[in-house]
Amino acid sequence: MNICDLGKIQGDMLLFGGIYSNLAALNAFIMAAQEYSIPPENCICTGDIVAFCADAAACVDKMCDFACPVIAGNCEVQLANDAQDCGCGYSEGSECSILSDGWYSHAIRQINDTHKQWMSNLPDRITFVHNAKRYGVVHGAASDISRFIWPVVTDEVILSEIALLEAQIGKVDVVIAGHTGIPMSRNIGTKSWINTGAIGMPSNNGRSLTGYGYLNENSIKIIDLPYDINASVQAMEQAGLTQGYEKTLSTGYWPSQDNLPVELHR
Ligand SMILES: [Fe+2]
Repeated sequence: MNICDLGKIQGDMLLFGGIYSNLAALNAFIMAAQEYSIPPENCICTGDIVAFCADAAACVDKMCDFACPVIAGNCEVQLANDAQDCGCGYSEGSECSILSDGWYSHAIRQINDTHKQWMSNLPDRITFVHNAKRYGVVHGAASDISRFIWPVVTDEVILSEIALLEAQIGKVDVVIAGHTGIPMSRNIGTKSWINTGAIGMPSNNGRSLTGYGYLNENSIKIIDLPYDINASVQAMEQAGLTQGYEKTLSTGYWPSQDNLPVELHR
């Protein structure tokens, strides 16, 4: 396991992930970081740079230039290994599985060997200390990069994932996770599990805005990310990515609900 220890980080931080090949959203996020005067080394990405939208290669190039700490998402692991699917473990024939065939094939065509090399060197875990708390960053969960820790899972599930992560990287106070695309924050005793959602796709709540986490010395807040949605929709339409995710950017609802726990269906 590739673990990246960033040591102590001073100052405010941005926590983000789920770029999902949405270049306009990534550009807006980087501009927001610059407006806050938060340097790239204080921005932590939870992975899935590539997924549903049109600009896989441009987003990887942009992230290489931005050079913030980033862990591998399942999409990066799969692409780096020349796998034929996104590795989410969707059931065969499910709507999510059929939809992923479209965008994943598109991403494969854009990604070159330099991108794959960069992806294969991404760490699996990041740790850092901020304001006397130790953080551990995972993509899906400690047990499986593609495990979905939805906002409705039990405390027991989360505590077992935290215990496993601590066996991998040592004691943590806070876990930062991605993968689900839905923000959540759960405090259990002295431990916290936080997911800041995705910047590249709305969180199935009927709002087109996406978001990221802003961590200061007191708390973490989810901040809306306005960006040029039309530019991303047009890029998807031009690329033939019209299976439904292009509408999600405007409607805020995912094209398929079958991967979600029933409580989270629209
Ligand atoms: Fe993921």
